[in-house]
Amino acid sequence: MNNINKQFTVLENNPNLCYLDSAASALKPKCVIDKINDYYNNYSCNIDRGVYPLSFDATKICDESRNRIAKFINAKENEIVFTRGASNSLNMIASMMKHYLSPGDEVITSLLEHHSSFLPFLKLQEEIGIKLVFVELDKDLKITVDNFKKAITPKTKFVQLTQVSNVTGYHTPIDEIVKIAHQNNILVSVDGAQGITHLKQDMVESDYDFYSFSLHKMCGPTGLGILYAKEELLNKLEPAEFGGEMNDEVTMSSVLYKAAPHKFETGTMPIAEMFASGTACEFIESIGYDYIESASVSLRNKAILELKKIPEIEIYNPLIDQGSTTIAFNIKGVHSHDAITSLVDSISLRAGHHCCQNLHTYLNIPSSLRASFYFYNDIKDVETFIKQVKETVSFFKEVGLIG
Ligand SMILES: Cc1ncc(COP(=O)(O)O)c(C=O)c1O
Repeated sequence: MNNINKQFTVLENNPNLCYLDSAASALKPKCVIDKINDYYNNYSCNIDRGVYPLSFDATKICDESRNRIAKFINAKENEIVFTRGASNSLNMIASMMKHYLSPGDEVITSLLEHHSSFLPFLKLQEEIGIKLVFVELDKDLKITVDNFKKAITPKTKFVQLTQVSNVTGYHTPIDEIVKIAHQNNILVSVDGAQGITHLKQDMVESDYDFYSFSLHKMCGPTGLGILYAKEELLNKLEPAEFGGEMNDEVTMSSVLYKAAPHKFETGTMPIAEMFASGTACEFIESIGYDYIESASVSLRNKAILELKKIPEIEIYNPLIDQGSTTIAFNIKGVHSHDAITSLVDSISLRAGHHCCQNLHTYLNIPSSLRASFYFYNDIKDVETFIKQVKETVSFFKEVGLIG
């Protein structure tokens, strides 16, 4: 085991684990688990409410985490809203936009969106009559700047796009899209759930209006997400949820909200997870984005080159120069759910539509298999993966399911 992998208890406890499902959730290092335990072992109380030392100290640690995350993505502390995950962040954004969008306003989206990026806006279409406009994909299933430009009309008010597809792993040219959108007075919300995992983020440079992500996909705790939004937007926007601790004064007929970001954080937050969120950022920085990206992409590319040699395999994202860390594929003529029953004997990977059914419908397939690579994978995982795929293909040939 190399030094990086020694930091993952789960790898130590499962020596044969070939984990190729990091796009669903990354493994968690000891330092993150220790920090979660630190909360339960040494604090266990609520934050932001108590003035007694235990609560005061726990609050301080959560404030430090917010600060750490802000630095991690080069944002201001009051631009960081803690949420329950990327899905929660994206739902909050759509809810908040309800008050700023009008019937007939157009929102640009794409067939690549995860359901968490798409469905909150589909709901807005039903509820207030906005119109969703889909950017056309090119022949490689990519969003291009030209196709984005074609989707803009005088009615476009908002853009909701993924930074990196959770199926193909291809990158959206989001920075250029943001520039064009802003020239047209259009706000942009970026689903960064699959971007922040292996790409360094800088909110000042990129100028996103909103950026959403989940900690658990970047070696952090589950149940915690971030909604980044520019300070001036957060100050203007109405909260999407209401309850304890998000207000300064409540009367029988009125409420005065706290300042952002606290007006967006309702009720008791996932405190242990907030504790560990700063630790997750430090861990990612200690590994380094350069290494994370190059290790993940190069393993994925090695795997795809081997997979391409198997004629019974259909690959949906075959390009190797796109910085992708995922492979979406099927055994020709075999449903992914049938294939997975044999594959999961020795590898952990996904079968299904990966919460991106529109893309699968567009490809005219019900589902696909998805292998996703991260920096703690190694060449042995690639070999196990290819060996198991070959054995599965042979099995389906033997039973006569494929020719
Ligand atoms: C691109 C993308 N967006 C959003 C989400 C939702 O993240 P979460 O399930 O952590 O809320 C995911 C999760 O797989 C994703 O891949």
